[in-house]
Amino acid sequence: MSGNDEKRAAAEKAALLVEPGMKVGLGTGSTAALLVDALGRRWTEGLRFLAVATSEATHRQAEALGIRLATLDEEPTLDLTIDGADEIGPGLALVKGGGGALLREKLVAAASGRMVVIADASKRVATLGRFPLPIEIMPFGAETTRRRVASLLEAEAGRPVDLSLRAGKDGAPFVTDGQHWILDAALGRIADPARLAGSLKSVLGVVEHGLFVDMAEAALIGTPDGVMEET
Ligand code: 5RP
Repeated sequence: MSGNDEKRAAAEKAALLVEPGMKVGLGTGSTAALLVDALGRRWTEGLRFLAVATSEATHRQAEALGIRLATLDEEPTLDLTIDGADEIGPGLALVKGGGGALLREKLVAAASGRMVVIADASKRVATLGRFPLPIEIMPFGAETTRRRVASLLEAEAGRPVDLSLRAGKDGAPFVTDGQHWILDAALGRIADPARLAGSLKSVLGVVEHGLFVDMAEAALIGTPDGVMEET
């Protein structure tokens, strides 16, 4: 089974969690796109639900499939959000934001009664941090924010941490749906995700970070032996 087959199996199982009349948050990324495709098929078969997308890309995909969409302001309370992750660590702590949608993903997940993560087996890790941690920042004064984040991370890691401004396709800074920029922090290992999450939130100029702690209730992980559920 390839990674893509594992993602598809997890996404299709998660699509079965959606019941008539539910309000559902739709994640972002390649695994979430497979979920949206599966939900589009269920919509064609007659399932009716209301969706809030975590990115413009997911919104466009769901809209093209005919799925009924609302904004988070129109529907501030959701039943369920299903989203991918870049890493799934102990206690279902997550690193997210590889696709740049972490801020809307966190807002939508926080508005949901349940968050279920879907992923292929490569995303399961013993310790978070191998995947660079995305940190969304204000473009205004970005260099001052980068320096603040760098000194915080150096203090946390006990060594300088490589912190790069994410580039878009044209080489200019990648711009999020919220018109912010992203720093990717190569931490290697995040010993205490909850503590780091709290520290990063207090840095001036940081809008949000990709650590999702105590948010996911379950993970559906595609493996060569089928989809495993972790709670
Ligand atoms: C986007 C995300 C994605 O969920 C994460 O990057 C996983 O993506 P993929 O399913 O393509 O591996 O957080 O901001």
